Amino acid sequence: MKTNEVNPFPVTTYISHNYFCNRELELKTLFKNNQNGLHTCLFAQRRVGKTGLIKHFFNEISTDKSTKCLYVDIFSTQNQAEFVRTLSNEIFQTFPPEKSIGRKFMEAIKSFRPVLSYDSLSGTPELSLDIADNKTKEKSIQEIFRFLDNQQTKLIIAIDEFQQITEYPEKNTEALLRSIMQQMQHITFVFCGSNLRLMNEMFHNTKRPFYSSCQSMYLGKISETDYSSFIKRHFEHAKRSITDESIAFILNWTCRHTYYTQYLCNQAFAGGNKKIELTYIQQVCKAILEQEQMVFFQYKKLLTADQWTLLIAVAKEEKITQPYANSFISKYRLKSSANVKRSLESLLEKEMLYSETTATETFYEVYDKYLMRWMELYA
Ligand SMILES: Nc1ncnc2c1ncn2[C@@H]1O[C@H](COP(=O)(O)OP(=O)(O)OP(=O)(O)O)[C@@H](O)[C@H]1O
Ligand SMILES: [Mg+2]
Repeated sequence: MKTNEVNPFPVTTYISHNYFCNRELELKTLFKNNQNGLHTCLFAQRRVGKTGLIKHFFNEISTDKSTKCLYVDIFSTQNQAEFVRTLSNEIFQTFPPEKSIGRKFMEAIKSFRPVLSYDSLSGTPELSLDIADNKTKEKSIQEIFRFLDNQQTKLIIAIDEFQQITEYPEKNTEALLRSIMQQMQHITFVFCGSNLRLMNEMFHNTKRPFYSSCQSMYLGKISETDYSSFIKRHFEHAKRSITDESIAFILNWTCRHTYYTQYLCNQAFAGGNKKIELTYIQQVCKAILEQEQMVFFQYKKLLTADQWTLLIAVAKEEKITQPYANSFISKYRLKSSANVKRSLESLLEKEMLYSETTATETFYEVYDKYLMRWMELYA
């Protein structure tokens, strides 16, 4: 790979329209929801492309100058005070004080005595507010959203890793945010989170404040046809050739799970070969499994022997629908259906296994596709 060449398969961040595959239907729905003042909640397995889709949506809508966008990732927040800090920081970064909204924002939060400091490593400005007691925290959250709503401009706020609010010690956070959301007139929200179980619980349990508050959007896998042509196009654009057989193998080996597909393509591209054939792709797969092996050994340490054995059994089947069937239990020498049940629940809880219920069945798969391939080969 030449030093100035961009790897067209990003795995850590969104680059631009050109490096983003499909999601046209989802994009249309996000545009439509925004236009009609509907809030959206994105549901998907881990690493399928929720964050990427939001970034892509914001990138596409940026040509509409009448709409502003704010992306807030609350993954590292532990309580309401940190939520306020993260939110204010994002407002500060997105609308710097030289801009009208940014200037007004600094004015609006004056009563919380904002202090500006600079991150010693990155040099990025960071804002901290004086909001020690509970009443001030709630008031500051309300005031910040009210301030944004009062700007008389359409604003889309995407809150990523939204399930994090269920971890806060302030148990009223869901109700507080829901009631704020109902008062907003110019803001539409997009919520998403990587913990599907907690997100489902929050948005689909009739007893929870966010129940029925948003349009649910399910993000599935990218179609085989679209992903194939995307991969081919990028290799060919970089004056490389890749066989159809190699692309089919990539998509099958990674189960078309976006992150795993992107990463394999990224590594195959990084190798710099001009002609990509199946044997080369298989070498890249092997190298990836070797790189990941230390992580897999850590997983093994953290699981019980029964859980590990069950995980291997599911990996070898790739997908199972009858985990309690005698044939499955005896094939992999599992102890009993009661034992399988206990391990299964624990593996689902730890998100080592993924389960989905369709109209006809409930199936289970190993979440991490590289772990699944590694177990198939070496465990
Ligand atoms: N449609 C797409 N085309 C190309 N790359 C994509 C696409 N969607 C996502 N990606 C890339 O795949 C990787 C994983 O996607 P992303 O981080 O968006 O997934 P996620 O569902 O938000 O994951 P998590 O559950 O861990 O939060 C990222 O590097 C992202 O840039
Ligand atoms: Mg994400």
